[in-house]
Amino acid sequence: MSDNIETIAIKTQIERTRFLEHSAPLYLTSSFVFEDAEDMRASFSEEKDRNIYSRFTNPNTSEFVEKIAKMEGAEAGHAFATGMSAVFSTLAALLNSGDHIVSARSIFGSTHTLFAKYFPKWNISHSYFNVNEVDKIEKLIKPETRVIYAETPTNPGVYILDLEVLGRIAKKHNLLLIIDNCFATPYLQNPIKYGADLVIHSATKLIDGQGRVLGGVTVGSAELIREIYLFSRNTGPALSPFNAWILSKSLETLHVRLDRHCENALKVAGFLETEANAGNVRYPFLPSHPQYEIAKKQMKLGGNIVSFEIKGGIEAGRNFIDNVKLCSRSANLGDARSIVTHPASTTHSKLTEEERLESGITPGLIRVSVGLEHVDDIIKDIQQALNS
Ligand SMILES: Cc1ncc(COP(=O)(O)O)c(C=O)c1O
Repeated sequence: MSDNIETIAIKTQIERTRFLEHSAPLYLTSSFVFEDAEDMRASFSEEKDRNIYSRFTNPNTSEFVEKIAKMEGAEAGHAFATGMSAVFSTLAALLNSGDHIVSARSIFGSTHTLFAKYFPKWNISHSYFNVNEVDKIEKLIKPETRVIYAETPTNPGVYILDLEVLGRIAKKHNLLLIIDNCFATPYLQNPIKYGADLVIHSATKLIDGQGRVLGGVTVGSAELIREIYLFSRNTGPALSPFNAWILSKSLETLHVRLDRHCENALKVAGFLETEANAGNVRYPFLPSHPQYEIAKKQMKLGGNIVSFEIKGGIEAGRNFIDNVKLCSRSANLGDARSIVTHPASTTHSKLTEEERLESGITPGLIRVSVGLEHVDDIIKDIQQALNS
């Protein structure tokens, strides 16, 4: 098999049935049968690599996982019902009471809620570093620290963290580096190359790409994935075979979709920089992005998310959202349809004002998930909403 991600995404396929179908069929079954008692015993004791029950494994899920693992350069992986179940199960499987996480402050709202509200119940604590202060990470590391956790690019601020620096720190202190690679996808960025131990995706976003299904996946070493698999097998956040089938098909076109998403996003970002009502435009491949050089080093293209600050704060932000016509008002991202979100009043509304500001989420911050419509139409819509 080729090392090229485009070929991997198309040619990785589960074994054909006797019907010799070209495209992998959907295995919509909750369980599997056995030849006899001995076959059943050997399968349960894992002497045989067999599907037993779709909470554990399913052919469609296995195909999806194998593709993502190969695309990320990982040994193994496990798929989940959602991105959040991937985040939760990965950390819950590997951490013990008393452990400590050092995390970037700019992380997805529900991941923050997990760290701040639920993990303390099990005596798992965390310390945050600001995305522009990776030099402070080492000061936060304690004897009980087990994990460095980050997203890059971040949601919704589109900040970039230097994966090489994170990898070096994690290695020096013998910590697990876990990267949520949702905004980049395996096509744009492979954190394992820079020393990440585990890479997590919300497959709900660009991997599906058409706003249809939920899904999540974690990839990494076979040893770590085994622990995560056992946790998931016993606690139940399995990806449905139908969603796995959709997601595996979606990966076949990921590279083509992403090329256009990124081309459109760069044009939208360039346009926003010329607009008087939009300030602080952030897009990783805009030379004005504070971490442009790092983005260029570790990403193939800049992704499809652009953020900017609308002049006039919260009221102007709400007004902008009210006035878009072509773009959707939605909390999702990574869809073929362009989407605008006002994080302060939606995805990050559960954070306090202070927590939002610390994560760079100002009242007028707008996140644009640039879709696949003609870029002139996207720009025209944003322009008219900005000036309404
Ligand atoms: C960076 C990031 N991680 C994780 C998630 C959670 O994914 P899901 O909605 O599939 O649970 C999201 C969702 O927006 C996200 O943006």
